[in-house]
Amino acid sequence: MTEEITLRRAIAEDVDDILAVEKSLDGAKIYSALTDRNEILEAISSSFFYVILRNAKIIGDVSYEMKDENHAHISGLALTPEFQGRGIAKQAIKMILEKLKDVNVIDLVTHPENERSINLYASFGFKKEGEPKENYFGDGQPRIRMVLRK
Ligand SMILES: CC(C)(COP(=O)(O)OP(=O)(O)OC[C@H]1O[C@@H](n2cnc3c(N)ncnc32)[C@H](O)[C@@H]1OP(=O)(O)O)[C@@H](O)C(=O)NCCC(=O)NCCS
Repeated sequence: MTEEITLRRAIAEDVDDILAVEKSLDGAKIYSALTDRNEILEAISSSFFYVILRNAKIIGDVSYEMKDENHAHISGLALTPEFQGRGIAKQAIKMILEKLKDVNVIDLVTHPENERSINLYASFGFKKEGEPKENYFGDGQPRIRMVLRK
C-alpha cells in the first residue's frame, strides 16, 4: 500500500509539531534527535527543511543543506514511530532526490547500526564512504558517511 504524503517547506509555526516528532524519537542511541526549539528554528531558517504531511498532519521531517551548487548534504530525516516501516521515508527521499536531480554529489551521515536508514539510502544508490567517525555529534556515538555520486 502506498501512503499519500506531501512535503512542504517548514515555517516557524511548525516548530511544535516538529518538536513532537523529534521528541518521539529521543533517547535512541542510533539517532540524535532535534529536541531544542531554537535548534529547530535555526534549521528551518538556514536549511531546506521540509515537513512530511499525511492527511494534513505533520508526521516527520526531512532536510538538506547546499554545501555548494553541486553538493547537497541531507541533514535530517525523521518519522514518528507509528508511521515507520510503511515506505514513507522512501517516498520522502525520492521527492528530495527529485528536487536535487541536477546536483551531482549528495551525502549524509548516519549511525553505523541504523540499518533502516542505511538500507533506505543504499536502495537509492548511496554508498558508505570511509570509516565511521567516533563521537560525531558529541553524544558518544559514531556516524558513517554515505554518498550518492551521479
Ligand atoms: C530511518 C527512517 C527515517 C526510515 O523510515 P521508514 O518510513 O520507516 O522507512 P521505509 O518504510 O520507507 O523503508 C525504507 C527502506 O528501509 C529499509 N527498512 C525498512 N524497515 C526496515 C527494518 N525493520 N530493518 C531494516 N531495514 C528496514 C528497507 O530497505 C526499506 O526499503 P524496502 O521497503 O524497499 O525494503 C525511520 O525509521 C526513522 O525515522 N527512524 C528514526 C530516525 C532516524 O534514524 N533517521 C535517520 C537518520 S540518518
